[in-house]
Amino acid sequence: MSFKNKVAIVTGAKQGIGLGIALAFAKEGCRVVVTDIDQKGAEKTAKRIEKLGVKAMAVACDVSKKEEVDLLMQQTIKRFGRIDILVNNAGIYPFVPFAKITEGDWDKLIDVNLKGTFLCSQAAAKQMKAGGKIVMISSIASLVGFEELVHYCASKGGVNGMVRAMALELAAKKINVNAVAPGAIETPGLSGGMAADAKKQMAVGIPWQRMGKPDDIANAVVFLASEKAEYITGQVLVVDGGWILR
Ligand SMILES: NC(=O)c1ccc[n+]([C@@H]2O[C@H](COP(=O)([O-])OP(=O)(O)OC[C@H]3O[C@@H](n4cnc5c(N)ncnc54)[C@H](O)[C@@H]3O)[C@@H](O)[C@H]2O)c1
Repeated sequence: MSFKNKVAIVTGAKQGIGLGIALAFAKEGCRVVVTDIDQKGAEKTAKRIEKLGVKAMAVACDVSKKEEVDLLMQQTIKRFGRIDILVNNAGIYPFVPFAKITEGDWDKLIDVNLKGTFLCSQAAAKQMKAGGKIVMISSIASLVGFEELVHYCASKGGVNGMVRAMALELAAKKINVNAVAPGAIETPGLSGGMAADAKKQMAVGIPWQRMGKPDDIANAVVFLASEKAEYITGQVLVVDGGWILR
């Protein structure tokens, strides 16, 4: 796969799945704009990429704020002159029982997971002059229900809908739009505070008998962002070790 001269933006790339995706692109020789709400975290990831001999830039950006997203795109164009790939990875998933979700909880989660994905995609697509690839990080929670995640399931179901509708509109510009829907992946956000026993317990329910790693997701993202996936658009690729097959 050739990512020579390409530029990828990865949101929420301080840690977890976003960090894995940013490093995977760098290993393919792709220049990476590492962005996160946490500036120091983004800088740390960018430094790791530069150690691989690949150019990277760290930009602080809250994906739910239009001015910050517009600035992210401007800074990317100023530094690298182009945007080829956008990975909408930034997301939050606070567990709250349905009856206790406040209006504020709902608005915050939808702002980050759904509006953030919309703002970044619209702003990046404008700059994809020679075609491009947009990959969303959805979730198996877009396809099956999870207790205490009603707002999250709604947001990721929304992301899948956006993938299909955007893929239709952006086909004329040769921009592929797809999603990867991860199962349970070991990240600071999900398993950071989990005891080893709880992780083992979770693995028992997964046909592949283990939780996923950020690399499992990054490999799928790199494929969807490559020329090998040129004729694939509007799809949601489940990467979950078989969890939702039962
Ligand atoms: N870990 C899993 O099992 C799993 C499963 C399915 C889907 N996902 C999805 O994968 C993505 C990454 O999850 P993770 O487990 O790596 O999470 P994580 O909490 O470990 O990391 C998320 C990153 O996003 C950043 N972020 C949060 N709000 C942001 C905002 N408003 N703007 C910019 N950056 C922001 C955080 O600072 C953090 O670096 C999310 O979209 C999540 O919904 C994760």
